[in-house]
Amino acid sequence: MKPKIFITRMMDEQVAAPLREKFDVRMWESETEPVPRTVLLKEAADAEALWTVISDRIDREIIEAGKKLRIIANMAVGFNNIDIEAAKEHDVVVTNTPDVLTETTADLTFALLLSTARQLTVAESELRKGNWKSWSPMQYTGMDAGGATIGIVGMGRIGEAVARRAKGFNMTVLYHNRNRKPDAEAAYGFEYRELDDLLKEADFVVLLTPYTKETAGLIGARELALMKKTAVLINVSRGGIVDEAALYNALKDHTIWAAGLDVFETEPVPLENPLLTLPNVTVLPHIGSASIRTRLAMMKLNAQAMVDVLEGREPENRVE
Ligand code: DGY
Repeated sequence: MKPKIFITRMMDEQVAAPLREKFDVRMWESETEPVPRTVLLKEAADAEALWTVISDRIDREIIEAGKKLRIIANMAVGFNNIDIEAAKEHDVVVTNTPDVLTETTADLTFALLLSTARQLTVAESELRKGNWKSWSPMQYTGMDAGGATIGIVGMGRIGEAVARRAKGFNMTVLYHNRNRKPDAEAAYGFEYRELDDLLKEADFVVLLTPYTKETAGLIGARELALMKKTAVLINVSRGGIVDEAALYNALKDHTIWAAGLDVFETEPVPLENPLLTLPNVTVLPHIGSASIRTRLAMMKLNAQAMVDVLEGREPENRVE
């Protein structure tokens, strides 16, 4: 019997088809609807590989249901949706998709920063509603990115790629990270700051840190109060890094100027989320890595990792 791979979303056939030659590939046939928990539990029970996406909660129950499970290939650089401890205990390899999405995610981060700073989505929707009546000196005015100070929280690969883009905008780049980055400091002039100092000095605060026990709720009411009244917060990492209730208050009371969010505590973000009622919030549906080339490259990395593990080789991009 061929080893079984269960794929939790419809993946592109150019990547999935070659797997069918060697493996019994089953796929949840929806690009948009998540696989129901009951189906996932049932499919995991005899699968040797699970190919998952960031919105699948792969907890201990799923991992323990997978009696034959050898690998979980997660289509993301982040893997906070997987119980890594449980995977370790049960000798299940977990892999992710770093590097291939770095530049694409940095592009989106910068696009969101510029869009939020210059209120592009507000201006566009006003035009479409027929509210653009005349050219007006202070209408739809925003904040300048050129020459401003950007503070990057989480200076990993994506953080550095964003920082290099910021240099092209003549920005001063501050960063906060677990470890100092002397090479990047020397090569590009990025400056390290403690978190509180970064929050006080930056015109744009960009969150790119992984979601862990240490970073959950990292930006709350106290941190938001340290930021400038004219500051813009950009989150392209994970929603749980920011206390959304505190962010709502800060934006409503104009303690900070605006926020651009590609991620939310609950995804898809419920339409009742009060943040969606504020004009000074630009929102996106978690599309950091969403270019055609990058999404295909992520799929190829996942597919290769599963082939490697199922054929007894060490995969690239093992996270534990
Ligand atoms: C990641 O790779 O972690 C992204 O957030 C999902 O596209």
